[in-house]
Amino acid sequence: MIPSWVRMMWDRRSHQFMTPPRVHSSGPGANLSAAYFDARYQILREPLGFPPSAAKLPDDDDAIHAWIEMNQVEQAERKVMVVAVGRIHLIPADSTGACADTVDEKAAHCPDFPPLGTHGFSDGAGNDFPPPKSLRPAVQIRQMGTLENHQRKGHAATVLTNLEDGAVEQWGKCTGFLQARVAAIPFYESQNWTCFGDKYVVEGIGLHRSMWKPLNVPLSPDSSIQHRPEGDN
Ligand SMILES: CC(C)(COP(=O)(O)OP(=O)(O)OC[C@H]1O[C@@H](n2cnc3c(N)ncnc32)[C@H](O)[C@@H]1OP(=O)(O)O)[C@@H](O)C(=O)NCCC(=O)NCCS
Repeated sequence: MIPSWVRMMWDRRSHQFMTPPRVHSSGPGANLSAAYFDARYQILREPLGFPPSAAKLPDDDDAIHAWIEMNQVEQAERKVMVVAVGRIHLIPADSTGACADTVDEKAAHCPDFPPLGTHGFSDGAGNDFPPPKSLRPAVQIRQMGTLENHQRKGHAATVLTNLEDGAVEQWGKCTGFLQARVAAIPFYESQNWTCFGDKYVVEGIGLHRSMWKPLNVPLSPDSSIQHRPEGDN
């Protein structure tokens, strides 16, 4: 067996040795670490001036979470670091997806997904949505992000694939929805998600557009890992 120190990589951006990335997924009812919420806060909340309490969502217990972990190696110590996160939850049968953004009282409001309520919508590629009943079970991706120093390594793609596969395993053939920050649309498009409807502002966060993707058979285990080596560009 190859000793673990041989597999460590020098990360020239953080100037530290890192172990290779590992993907994890868990939930519903996941026991999430402080490192998971630290990463979520650093990537998605802190840059917008939100308080640390905004890192938690009211229904985190109900969601499936996926994340990428690495160990930072400093002298003899190994510190677990989460570099990419994401979650997916089942949209309740009596909901069309509207929800509060965080647990805070003054949380922003995230709008619903109209095709879950009314038939007759088309997406940005000209595909007609099936009737609302055929879109159920419907699931929603939220809180996807990769630490800036670790982007463009395939981590978010790995997290997203794990969430999509986890949803199909948990809830069966289903339809995925999400509200993408406009800067993240090219990422989701690269993973075969399609935009629909007009852009809208989520207060305190910015301009968004809704996207969807039919989710079917989970892919083979190998296809759920898409990392490229750290340190490469
Ligand atoms: C969007 C985000 C999650 C992508 O994370 P990532 O780990 O860098 O994404 P990946 O490396 O898995 O990217 C896979 C593919 O998506 C596309 N992509 C990713 N980021 C992109 C960007 N900024 N511009 C254009 N295409 C992009 C590319 O096709 C990429 O493949 P390539 O690197 O071989 O060209 C990351 O930029 C991020 O955390 N942004 C800030 C938070 C955020 O906006 N989250 C989404 C909220 S809806």
